[in-house]
Amino acid sequence: MWLCNSSIGRKVVMSVTGVALILFLTFHMAMNLVAIFSGEAYNMICEFLGANWYALVATVGLGALVVIHIVYAFWLTMQNRAARGTERYAVNEKPKNVEWASQNMLALGIVILLGLGLHLFNFWAKMQLPEVLHMLGINVDTTYVADGVYHIQNTFGCPVYSVLYIVWLAALWFHLTHGFWSALQTLGWNNKIWFERWKMIGNIYSTLVVLGFVAVVVYYALCGSYC
Ligand code: HEM
Repeated sequence: MWLCNSSIGRKVVMSVTGVALILFLTFHMAMNLVAIFSGEAYNMICEFLGANWYALVATVGLGALVVIHIVYAFWLTMQNRAARGTERYAVNEKPKNVEWASQNMLALGIVILLGLGLHLFNFWAKMQLPEVLHMLGINVDTTYVADGVYHIQNTFGCPVYSVLYIVWLAALWFHLTHGFWSALQTLGWNNKIWFERWKMIGNIYSTLVVLGFVAVVVYYALCGSYC
């Protein structure tokens, strides 16, 4: 099929899954910002997004998007390296005007994946997973499954986790700033005037999304349970 067999088809898959993931991040960041203003409202959202059927369907869909995005990232990188042959090793100088992020998208993606593993361990494994296990009749503690604030306080009350999350979010910023306009370029919005504009829009958008997450980490790292 075209989406698997051709290079441009594979790039389209990367772009469409990437844009969908950016939309998820926007929603997720907005949801998390609520935790700064009202712990009660945040926990209501967490309860709403618990182990209900629609939340489980969304989780499976999200997981599929992440897996497809990663598999295609490795596939495209291997294909690019094969196309370049030995040139990669013979030429040490980086091409001009190629940003650092665009040259390191796979490495940034791997850092983001490691951070995501830690994040799912900190939150999902203590919230949605025990709820699902409980529904399946397995005996697990479900006291804090909908208490998002409790898990945020536990996580960011620990300085090591706060620093690791900031490093993770910095990698996410580099990945998004390049990914945003690169996706739109692949999907056809690549005329000369809009090229620079999309880059600017992508930079501002990625910065706002990442700063939203950073605000929650910093707020709870500094104020913890005393706010
Ligand atoms: C301040 C930073 C963040 C906080 C406080 C936070 C908080 C949460 C919470 C409370 C959950 C819900 C767990 C559940 O009910 O199962 C969650 C799930 C999740 N988060 Fe985050 N998050 C943050 C940043 C991020 C970032 C930057 C990403 C992606 C790069 C991300 C990706 C996810 C994913 C994929 C899930 C699982 C969603 C699902 O179960 O459907 N989070 N997060």
